Amino acid sequence: MGSLSSPEFLEIEELYCGSVFPNKRRFFSQCQTALCIFCAEWLGMQDAYWVARAGLVGECVDTNGEKLAEMKLRYPDDWQFHTADAYEFAQEAVEDGRQWDMLTLDPWSGQFEKCADLMDTWTTLARKVVVLGHGNYRLEVPQAPSGWKLATSIKRTDFKGGVFWLVFARA
Ligand SMILES: C[S@@+](CC[C@H](N)C(=O)[O-])C[C@H]1O[C@@H](n2cnc3c(N)ncnc32)[C@H](O)[C@@H]1O
Repeated sequence: MGSLSSPEFLEIEELYCGSVFPNKRRFFSQCQTALCIFCAEWLGMQDAYWVARAGLVGECVDTNGEKLAEMKLRYPDDWQFHTADAYEFAQEAVEDGRQWDMLTLDPWSGQFEKCADLMDTWTTLARKVVVLGHGNYRLEVPQAPSGWKLATSIKRTDFKGGVFWLVFARA
């Protein structure tokens, strides 16, 4: 049985090097559900792990089915895991009218630009908050779609001039 207090879940924090994630009290205290896209490589250590620790119930999407299967063994039982292409999953979810309170996206740097161009999709899927991994010296910070604002930008690493969590919230 997976739970927030199980050693298998808590161990995720020790398996990989440290990470930063937006503070729950400041940015997502009102959120109860989350969709975590691009979350599997390090079992969600950068994002889904903190979302689960904050008490949200999440759905995870990634193409890496093996890592997702390992996450399923470690995360609370009410979390769901989908092996799927993120862009196709998101498009279907938009068409089905699905929404989550919070959306997190942690793409590889080669997909930063594509994800930034899809802000309208991400904000359609999120009721309250979108946390987008983004950065590097040559990329523009994406504009918040109408009705949204960039609440903060949190530096994660110095890679190529800085990789950030951009936290978008309803304006
Ligand atoms: C930077 S890693 C994410 C690390 C993760 N946030 C963690 O803390 O463990 C990027 C992830 O994107 C996934 N990925 C790459 N292309 C994808 C796609 N088109 N759809 C879904 N997942 C994809 C990879 O499998 C990888 O897990």
